[in-house]
Amino acid sequence: MSATNGTTHAPASQNGAAPAPSALQAQAICAGYDKRAILEHIDLHVLQGKVTALVGPNGSGKSTLLKVCTKLLAPAKGTVILDGENIAHLSTREMAKRLAILPQGPVAPANLTVRDLVEQGRYAQVGPFRMLRRQDHVAINRAIAMVQLETFADRDVDTLSGGERQRAWLALALAQQTAILALDEPTTFLDIGHQLEVLELVHELNRTEGLTVLMVLHDLNHAAAFADQMVVLNHGSIVEAGEPWSILQPDLLRQVFGVAASIIREPESGKPLIVAHQSARRAMESSFEPS
Ligand SMILES: Nc1ncnc2c1ncn2[C@@H]1O[C@H](COP(=O)(O)OP(=O)(O)OP(=O)(O)O)[C@@H](O)[C@H]1O
Ligand SMILES: [Mg+2]
Repeated sequence: MSATNGTTHAPASQNGAAPAPSALQAQAICAGYDKRAILEHIDLHVLQGKVTALVGPNGSGKSTLLKVCTKLLAPAKGTVILDGENIAHLSTREMAKRLAILPQGPVAPANLTVRDLVEQGRYAQVGPFRMLRRQDHVAINRAIAMVQLETFADRDVDTLSGGERQRAWLALALAQQTAILALDEPTTFLDIGHQLEVLELVHELNRTEGLTVLMVLHDLNHAAAFADQMVVLNHGSIVEAGEPWSILQPDLLRQVFGVAASIIREPESGKPLIVAHQSARRAMESSFEPS
């Protein structure tokens, strides 16, 4: 599906079936920092029960859009609707019951263990006195087990490796047990095995529990493999949104990411697989070189 600035990036229907309703919808969003505009006229549908990958070059506004969608940043214009309600009218606690976020580059306070950190995922559920109940401890242990950090539960977060720390933050989000998960580069710092484990975990939660996922990913092949929908952001605007096969085209990869690439069918999954040959600039230069 092709679109330009200001148009609605409505869900593409699969095989002519009725499109899924939106769990989260950003309408006519303009946002930025101080007086600097970053996002211009964004319309985004995050389909209920689907995995949506937000992709785009560095600085294109992915984290900014995720912050607006999760109420971490107020937009200058526009509205975000969550389960039919304007998030501007929802309290932080109400938001935390419905949506969990793994931000980009989170920083934990000093002297906090993994278990302490993950516990914070239950605060929206337990009320002002923060007395954890049995079901809260079950949710915390389950989240820690999901990211395979059981043996690290009593370690200070400061002492973990980058990848272990990233999984601890993911566990915090999972412990919230919300219907929507917003993840900003959940595979940062992870080796290839742990990257796939995290993405498979998210995929499994989506398939078995109907979790709605909005995640920022840099690896386009991961986005193609794990997302139902891809949304491409460039210079603060959505340039394409739709299913991976419709999005991943050589022209788009050249124009948005500046790479010359082939798209092939991954033999096992049938999903698109990008083989980037060289930067588009280099390809252009070499076409002028004398043979
Ligand atoms: N707190 C901030 N104050 C001022 N400018 C900011 C702030 N956060 C981000 N920006 C700017 O907004 C633009 C978009 O940043 P954003 O973090 O949304 O990009 P991104 O697509 O997530 O990039 P990356 O892939 O590198 O994470 C960038 O030019 C960035 O410098
Ligand atoms: Mg970012």
